[in-house]
Amino acid sequence: MVADMIGNLGSPATGVVVTGGASGIGRACARALAAVGRPVAIWDVAGDAAAASAKQCAEAGVATHATALDVRDRDAIQAAAAETLGALGSIGGLVHAAGIVRPALTDVVDTDTWDDVLAINLRAEADIVVALLPALRAAGPGAAVVGISSIEGLIGHGGIPSYTASKHGLIGLTRSLAHRLGPDGIRFNAVCPGFVETPMFLPAIEARPEARARYEAKVPLGRLAQPEDIGRVVRFLLSDEAAYVNGAAIVVDGGVTAAGGQELVG
Ligand SMILES: NC(=O)c1ccc[n+]([C@@H]2O[C@H](COP(=O)([O-])OP(=O)(O)OC[C@H]3O[C@@H](n4cnc5c(N)ncnc54)[C@H](O)[C@@H]3O)[C@@H](O)[C@H]2O)c1
Repeated sequence: MVADMIGNLGSPATGVVVTGGASGIGRACARALAAVGRPVAIWDVAGDAAAASAKQCAEAGVATHATALDVRDRDAIQAAAAETLGALGSIGGLVHAAGIVRPALTDVVDTDTWDDVLAINLRAEADIVVALLPALRAAGPGAAVVGISSIEGLIGHGGIPSYTASKHGLIGLTRSLAHRLGPDGIRFNAVCPGFVETPMFLPAIEARPEARARYEAKVPLGRLAQPEDIGRVVRFLLSDEAAYVNGAAIVVDGGVTAAGGQELVG
């Protein structure tokens, strides 16, 4: 078993719910967690891909579960919380990685897709925390939540207003819940990735032949992130190694924002 080889890196043995775990960053988080022995549940609107992701995680020898659900659906979240607790036996962590991005190509603000973006990227984390709270409290010390924000949670991107608002909001929610639920022993943090090679980001680098090189040139480390670069940081934040990290927004962008990061468009 992989977990036997690399140790558990300070990870509790409790289960983790990963939204958006069927693809990209969410899938990499789930696999990183499974590799250190944590049971994982994949919640994703893409049901078949969620099941495939859970199957990959199970190869590490951990309990897994997959649920096809739309994180905009509060009733489905409540049902999934109960079902997942039954399947994994405990829930001591949440990664909210489900997300969408919608451009404002013709109008200044993408008002037509605003509600969907905000509901999926931001409101869902609040709804899921409410649904999982009894289980997170029962999991005892070490329970933790990580929301996948973005560098657009820190700086403004004129091409994607609703996305930028949702990612700033996720950091605000993180800080509020860190304050509110820290006394209960539940930590809340956000991760702010830069340019990550996933299906969400691919259209940006496939748009023009030179686009990849232009993005890479904006990264002081000289390369785009792989989903695993983010998954390892999320795993750390869910582990006891991060026992005193609460209410933080951790930037994982290869130095894009450190170097200014204000020229994100195109
Ligand atoms: N790729 C990047 O460069 C990048 C950078 C910063 C932040 N992020 C954030 O990381 C997170 C993961 O993105 P990714 O790049 O892995 O994209 P992705 O498209 O590969 O994965 C997103 C996942 O979310 C799921 N999803 C979408 N809407 C859903 C809904 N209503 N209910 C349930 N699941 C839903 C999709 O099915 C998919 O599996 C997102 O929140 C995204 O905003 C991505």
